Amino acid sequence: MTQNLDQEIDRMGTQSVKWEYIMRDGVVLHGDHADKRHGAERTLPMWVADMDFRCPPAAIEAIEKRAAHGIYGYTKPADSYFEAMIAWAEKHYGWKIEQEWMTLAAGVVPAINIMIQGMLQSGDKVLIQPPVYYPFARSISNNGMEVVESALLYENGRYLMDFDDLAAKAADPAVKMVILCSPHNPVARVWNKEELTRFGEICIENDLIIVSDEIHGDLIYDGVEFVSFPTISEIFADNCIVCNAPSKTFNLAGLQTSNIIIKNEEWRKLYRQQVARNGTHSINIFGPIAAEASYRYGRGWLDDVMAYVQENYRFMAAYLAEHLPQVDVIQAEGTYLVWVDFRSLGLSPEDRKVLIMDKAKVYLDEGEMFGIEGSGFERFNIACPRSILVEALERLVEVIENG
Ligand SMILES: Cc1ncc(COP(=O)(O)O)c(C=O)c1O
Repeated sequence: MTQNLDQEIDRMGTQSVKWEYIMRDGVVLHGDHADKRHGAERTLPMWVADMDFRCPPAAIEAIEKRAAHGIYGYTKPADSYFEAMIAWAEKHYGWKIEQEWMTLAAGVVPAINIMIQGMLQSGDKVLIQPPVYYPFARSISNNGMEVVESALLYENGRYLMDFDDLAAKAADPAVKMVILCSPHNPVARVWNKEELTRFGEICIENDLIIVSDEIHGDLIYDGVEFVSFPTISEIFADNCIVCNAPSKTFNLAGLQTSNIIIKNEEWRKLYRQQVARNGTHSINIFGPIAAEASYRYGRGWLDDVMAYVQENYRFMAAYLAEHLPQVDVIQAEGTYLVWVDFRSLGLSPEDRKVLIMDKAKVYLDEGEMFGIEGSGFERFNIACPRSILVEALERLVEVIENG
C-alpha cells in the first residue's frame, strides 16, 4: 500500500473545484459556502470526477524535481513521455500505438470540441447514448451541431445499448459522428467485445467518425475486462479517434494532459489544423512529466486505489440495501462513479436536491444532468476515504427516513 487511503486529506484552500465550489442551477457559489464547510456541518462533495487521494508518489517526486529548476518556459513533451504511454497501452490494452498518431490536449472535452469544429460542417448531427457525461451534448450544441440521442436501455437493473435504435439513428445521412463513452459515465458499464463490435459495425456501415472516449479505461473492477475499441480490428482502428488520459487513472486532472490518438492520417490532419486555428497546441509543463512517472511506476498505486474503490462500492451497496432498500444501486463494472436509482421516492428533482444537498449536505451530480433518461437518479463519486462515504450514507438515510 503506497498510502493510507483511509486518511482524510484536507483539500480546502487548494483551489479544488470539488471541495471549494458549489454549482447550483448553473451558478457557481464560492467562498462563502466553502468557509462554512468545515467540521460537522461541512458539505460532503461527491460530485466532480476527481479523487480525494494523493496521486502516485513517483508523480509527486517528478513534479518536485522539475519544479526545483525554477524556469517554466514553453515546453514540448519529451519522447520518453510517449514511450511510457505507448508501453502502458500495449501492456494494458494490447494496442500498439505509434507516436505519430498521438497529440496531447489540455483535456478530452477540449479535444472533442476541436474535433467537432475541425471535422464537421455546421448543422451536422452527432450521436450520443444518454444518460451520458453531459459535456458531450454541450460540446455538440455549443459548436452549432445537432445532438441525436440513442438512449441506453435499462433492463433488469442493467444498462445496454439499443442496437436497433442506434442503427436507425446512424442511418440518417446528417449524422456524421458518434461519441462512445467506454467505460460509460455515469452508468459504470464496461462495454464488452461483443457489444463494441456490434456498435462499431453499425457506425462504420454508416460512415460515422467514431470518437471513443476511454478516459475511464484503466478504472476497471476485478473480473471485468476493458476492451479498447481499436483493438477489435484494423478497420475499427482506422475508423476511430481514441481519447484517454492519465488524469482519471492517476488523479492528475489539474495538470491538463490528455492523449488524443488518431491513426487515420486524414482525420489527424483535420484535427491538427483545428488545433492550429485555435492556437491551443501548448501544454502544461508538469502534465507529461507527472504522467510519464505514473505510467512507468504507478501501476501498484492504481491497483491499491481500485481495490479500495471496490471496497467502497461493496460497502455502499450493502449499506443501502440494508438501510434504504427503496433505492437501487446499479451494478458498477468500472470507474469510481456509482449510479443510484432514487425514483421510488417519488420526489421532483428540486425536492430531491433540497433533501440531499440542503438537508443531508451531500453534494452529488443529479441524474437529470445526464439527460432525461437520468431523471430520478443520482451519481456518487466514491473515490474518497471510507469515513466520508459512511458519513454521507448515514446522513442520506437519516434525512430520507426521518425527514
Ligand atoms: C467520460 C468523460 N470524458 C471526459 C472527462 C473529462 O476529461 P478532461 O478533464 O480531460 O476534459 C470526464 C470527466 O469526468 C469523463 O467522465
